[in-house]
Amino acid sequence: MVKIKQSDLRTSSPEFQKYFRNYSDLLKTFREKLASVSSHGSVASVEKHRSRGKLLARERINLLVDQNTPFLELSSFAAYNQYENAFPSAGIITGIGVVQGRECLIIANDATVKGGTYIRETIKKHVRAQEIARQNKLICIYLVDSGGIYLPEQAHVFPDRFDFGRVFYNQARMSAEGIPQISVVMGSCTAGGAYVPAMSDETIMVRNQGTIFIGGPPLVKAATGEEVTPEELGGAEVHTSISGVADHIAEDDVDALKICRTIVAGLPIPEKQKLDIQPMQEPQFPAEELYGLLPTDLKKPINAHAIIDRLVDGSEFQEFKANYGKTLVTGFARIWGFPIGIIANQSFLTSESSLKGAHFIQLCVQRKIPLLFLQNITGFIVGKKYEHQGIARDGAKLINAVANASVPKFTVVIGGSFGAGNYAMAGRSFDPNFLFMWPHSRISVMGGEQASGVLTSIGNKEAADALLEEFNEQSSAYYSSSRIWDDGIIDPVDTRKVLAMAISVSLNRSFGEPGYGVFRM
Ligand code: COA
Repeated sequence: MVKIKQSDLRTSSPEFQKYFRNYSDLLKTFREKLASVSSHGSVASVEKHRSRGKLLARERINLLVDQNTPFLELSSFAAYNQYENAFPSAGIITGIGVVQGRECLIIANDATVKGGTYIRETIKKHVRAQEIARQNKLICIYLVDSGGIYLPEQAHVFPDRFDFGRVFYNQARMSAEGIPQISVVMGSCTAGGAYVPAMSDETIMVRNQGTIFIGGPPLVKAATGEEVTPEELGGAEVHTSISGVADHIAEDDVDALKICRTIVAGLPIPEKQKLDIQPMQEPQFPAEELYGLLPTDLKKPINAHAIIDRLVDGSEFQEFKANYGKTLVTGFARIWGFPIGIIANQSFLTSESSLKGAHFIQLCVQRKIPLLFLQNITGFIVGKKYEHQGIARDGAKLINAVANASVPKFTVVIGGSFGAGNYAMAGRSFDPNFLFMWPHSRISVMGGEQASGVLTSIGNKEAADALLEEFNEQSSAYYSSSRIWDDGIIDPVDTRKVLAMAISVSLNRSFGEPGYGVFRM
């Protein structure tokens, strides 16, 4: 009989109470910051936008999705604390919403933010959303309203592999894989931006509002001397009746979104990956208790079992190898009825815990159970004894298993994410389907104090002091999310809901067959 383990925890303890209070303060800041990035552009630009009969980007999304369904917004903090905060959410909203009962990836330009133009983070966010669509086989809907590249930033957004061109490459590749690409042109699509609707399988344009052109009227005048209005050059009438660049004409935003919903309703319904899904059960402990388990000082341990108890159905966790390699907690549970294999850090990674992790991943892959990584990791154990025992050899086995796991992976950074531990626990470079951070969490190559210690020990004291400050700033969850190293910062209490949606979304693509590289024995 497998033991179902539940952690003991005294919520009345002074430590719990202190952490709870600290976290409440931290959440207040988180909510204020989230509100600041969730607003649109300036009051004047919002007024101008509305005076043209246009709906705001978030209003458009609300009308597109099925009523009373969740919208999983991604990377809300993109560009936060950069560009003097002139680009809230990097001027683009991305997320997963349900349209006609189908999970769709929605990308909406926010034209109230510098004309919906693209800075580096806008492109990174757009391309990341497309990657999510491709990995999870999600229909893509683009609500286009953009002046293309933000010209002062062109050197950072145009030429490289994952720059603007990647948007169109992704559309072509997804279309070839049978992932529908639908555009709704609700404003301008200028220059490169013209290719978002042009590369779509089906495109809707709003009359007297949407325009598509490779070069706008000022450019045409400068280049050829021809004088032409935007509507004559590339309005909805032109593109749906003369050029054939677009397929459907809509009277206004509301009509365009209705047409889009009708198109989605007619798309073929592919088979989803089968999973043994059971009725959902709430955990036995309130989710709010998570706050009392999280020290803001990451040097303090986080009780992985207690966290799991508050995340999984019925707080039922069937632990695997409970007494071996205890610095890594592994086991099976359910989240909203979906089966999940959980891998959570309880301290640094040792040879034993790495082997245990690799073994557990193989079990999940064989049984086709998705994996959840709860990261709170300072790295692999260091020291002569451990190097001699081959920690790098055993660590490599875990990393190999994580990289090649052919089931969906979800990563939540619940504390620190430092060093190679980040890789072994399905960090960004290991392509988890989604990666979320909790507001207090931190990510960097090592802790600031350790980095500064390294520089001091090699004789560079001045650089060491500067580094400490820099590390503290650069390791925060907000710094990470601003640069789209993750898919968003979430309130710990929302984690179950977010993961349930993420797992559901991942079932749109069938899981692959097991296959690993050479395990270093
Ligand atoms: N690069 C840099 N900034 C741009 C921009 C661009 N491509 N397009 C617009 N902006 C800025 C404007 O300077 C303005 O900034 P401000 O708020 O600080 O004054 C803001 O975005 C809004 O632009 P505005 O022209 O006032 O808004 P609008 O809604 O009337 O028109 C556009 C929006 C996008 C249709 C129009 O600005 C335009 O045609 N831009 C040029 C598009 C282009 O040629 N792009 C080619 C690049 S690939």
